[in-house]
Amino acid sequence: MVAGNWKMNTDLQKGLALAEGILQGIKQEMDCEVVLAPPFTHLTELKKKLEGSAIKLGAQNCHCEHSGAYTGEVSAEMLQSAGVEYVITGHSERRQLFHETNEIIRQKVNAILHAGLKVIFCCGETLDVRQSETHNILVRMQMEESLFHLEPEQFKSICIAYEPIWAIGTGVNASPEQAQEMHSYIRDQIAIRYSKFIAEETNILYGGSIKPDNAKSLFVQEDVDGGLVGGASLDAKGFLDIIHAACG
Ligand code: PGA
Repeated sequence: MVAGNWKMNTDLQKGLALAEGILQGIKQEMDCEVVLAPPFTHLTELKKKLEGSAIKLGAQNCHCEHSGAYTGEVSAEMLQSAGVEYVITGHSERRQLFHETNEIIRQKVNAILHAGLKVIFCCGETLDVRQSETHNILVRMQMEESLFHLEPEQFKSICIAYEPIWAIGTGVNASPEQAQEMHSYIRDQIAIRYSKFIAEETNILYGGSIKPDNAKSLFVQEDVDGGLVGGASLDAKGFLDIIHAACG
């Protein structure tokens, strides 16, 4: 699975042109899922554009309540009604810049599932945590406090994105070995909490400075099931190269 997180980039016209470029290079039959997560303002137009293609629509955030007096917010139900299938939550930029805690993310996960959507759950450590060698503990806590209350049946709608914060938008990606080590740890934690079967079925994506020239070396790792791509998803050709690295 390869998901493009456009963040707060592209206006509507540029976003539609980017999607068009991706559509032109994508095969109808692919053995992996491709998701585009544009800004909210692009969702309905993009939905029309992607109709009949293999590409799915994602959103970058939602509020945890269904509706009400929350000026400026968008609920998971609203996203569902606009044709969204996946919602990213727990992204480090939301954690750091918008002070989202594990508890808030837990509520968002619940809201996303309640709306019948799938979750792309981001987790990952800062450089300090990595240097103090407590990254496994931190990632486990992020999962325990925001995900592990779910029933096994619900967990089938969860996809994990391990995104070491020191690798996001920095041009420094985790080495394939570092990614593999953490992904394998995450899968073990899912197996302990749920089952080996559910752990094997869960997509665990890597995110953080994925580029066309490093994608393959990350994706060939046993426990890396794809990528959540930021900057490199804003260029159709580069993003297609990453998709082809994942989907063969
Ligand atoms: P990046 O972002 O690929 O630009 O590092 C990844 C992300 O934040 O999801």
